[in-house]
Amino acid sequence: MSNKFKKIASQAALKYINNNSIIGIGSGTTIKYFINMLFKIKNRINGFVSTSITSTNELKKYNFPIYDSSEIDFIDVYFDSADEINNNMEMIKGGGAALTNEKIISSIANIFICIVDQSKHVNILGKIHPLPIEIIPTAKSYVFKELFKLGGLPKLREGIITEHGNIILDIYHLDIIEPIKLEKYINSIAGVVTVGLFANRCADIVITGNYDYTISVKKNIKLLSSN
Ligand code: 5RP
Repeated sequence: MSNKFKKIASQAALKYINNNSIIGIGSGTTIKYFINMLFKIKNRINGFVSTSITSTNELKKYNFPIYDSSEIDFIDVYFDSADEINNNMEMIKGGGAALTNEKIISSIANIFICIVDQSKHVNILGKIHPLPIEIIPTAKSYVFKELFKLGGLPKLREGIITEHGNIILDIYHLDIIEPIKLEKYINSIAGVVTVGLFANRCADIVITGNYDYTISVKKNIKLLSSN
């Protein structure tokens, strides 16, 4: 059911693409809808930087130019979705295991636009959706012990090896009251590659497809003066 609302939000996001842009592209079902709408404005886009093999393959269907994040130092705008988003535009991401590339590319991007359906909005992150962490495989038992101390319940995501050759732990039952602090703390645990909390680099614009078919757009303070 949420797919309809992902689609209308994706459609609304198209207007945030300026001519000759370099665009960062996230991963997941919402972004797949978004990519499939981009061919309409193909001539206005200079190129893409993709966060996953799946998104790259979608972009290739339309022969879009694709750049590697290691050869690019500026991205105009990054489009992605989230597993959960709070009122401060802080997010849990990584449901598709692409969190490391998503963090790198969103960090390079000038503007981060998060496209969601209404179901992704929460008051407190981590109560419903687990928090994913990409870790070096040899650090597994150490990281498990450190995460237990946080009060969460870490579980190995079975059968998943990331594009960087690492494993994913999902931490259940966290009440994330201070996302920036927790992101910093988990990043400091030896063996952690990336935590799927996007609080330090939160979204700049959130486009939501609501259940009544309306679209809500929320912008952070630095963008409030723009359209
Ligand atoms: C992938 C992500 C996705 O943005 C998140 O999982 C949401 O996915 P979907 O659009 O399928 O609901 O973070 O790593």
